[in-house]
Amino acid sequence: MKTEPDFRTPELDALAQQVIPKDHFVFSADTARDRFFNDTRMLDVKQDVHNRFRTNPTSMIDHMIANLRLTGTEDLLDLGCGNGFILEHLRPHLAQGTITGLDIAPAVLEAARQRLHGTATPCTWIESSADELSMLDEDSFDRIMANYMIHYVPDLDRCFTEVRRVMRYGGIFHLTTDRPDSMLEMYDVHFTALKAMDAPQHLFKATPKGRLSLANGTGILGRYFKKVEKVVWQDQLRFTDPEPFMRFYTVGHNHCCASSEPDARLNEAFFAELRDHVRTQVVAAIEKEGYFAVTKYTGTFLCR
Ligand SMILES: C[S@@+](CC[C@H](N)C(=O)[O-])C[C@H]1O[C@@H](n2cnc3c(N)ncnc32)[C@H](O)[C@@H]1O
Repeated sequence: MKTEPDFRTPELDALAQQVIPKDHFVFSADTARDRFFNDTRMLDVKQDVHNRFRTNPTSMIDHMIANLRLTGTEDLLDLGCGNGFILEHLRPHLAQGTITGLDIAPAVLEAARQRLHGTATPCTWIESSADELSMLDEDSFDRIMANYMIHYVPDLDRCFTEVRRVMRYGGIFHLTTDRPDSMLEMYDVHFTALKAMDAPQHLFKATPKGRLSLANGTGILGRYFKKVEKVVWQDQLRFTDPEPFMRFYTVGHNHCCASSEPDARLNEAFFAELRDHVRTQVVAAIEKEGYFAVTKYTGTFLCR
């Protein structure tokens, strides 16, 4: 059996206590649809950076394939399927099954449709919010996924109640999210830069995934599902050049959410200065350590 890499150190745990705020950002599904996912740029950058800079030899997709225990004949529903990156990799494992991809953002849904066009697995694409599944029949899916998207869903109670309605007996609901201190080093350089600039206090917030994270998800999901199993894994992105990290930070994560929504208090000069402060710290870490590390604490709840 393969052992999972463990990147945690007492120093990183201590840093997490200092750096990660208790409050987290909250974004609406409308913001997700109209700003973050009105094109595929954000997803493309994140996916590219994870593929190129990860150090865990087992990829996110490998972890998901192991978790989903597919026999090849399942009907799978992917809530917030994005640009279909995950579905493309799962598809060969569903050669006699079906795929239904659902997303609130038409631009990424179209990218997913094109990505899987012409493959042998029948695919259906639905533009909707994950808490509005009335178009789906009850007991119609063997696997339902919600990967890195649940923090955007307005009505979690309705979403999980609907997931139970459309999931067949013996099915698995696969919900992937992060720990609130995931990517701690990115938040550390970001908050250090904000402090140096005496930036507004409302920017000092943690990842929006804090809404339903690996830390609080078991209790929330336990209200809807008989059995909730948590499978966790870590990864560490290592950058020996600051520029790919800067793309990840600015385009992939909107400057740790500081540029996620229009804010009259922040202009382009503010973000240029912020990037300078962040880049300086990343360059210093590369010179000292040989690379800048971004540690990921991620995982999946398998709900039955
Ligand atoms: C970070 S992306 C994750 C995409 C994909 N699941 C993955 O892991 O690669 C979040 C996705 O959720 C979608 N989304 C946001 N709010 C949603 C909602 N209320 N219902 C359905 N999809 C939503 C976004 O449009 C986006 O495609």
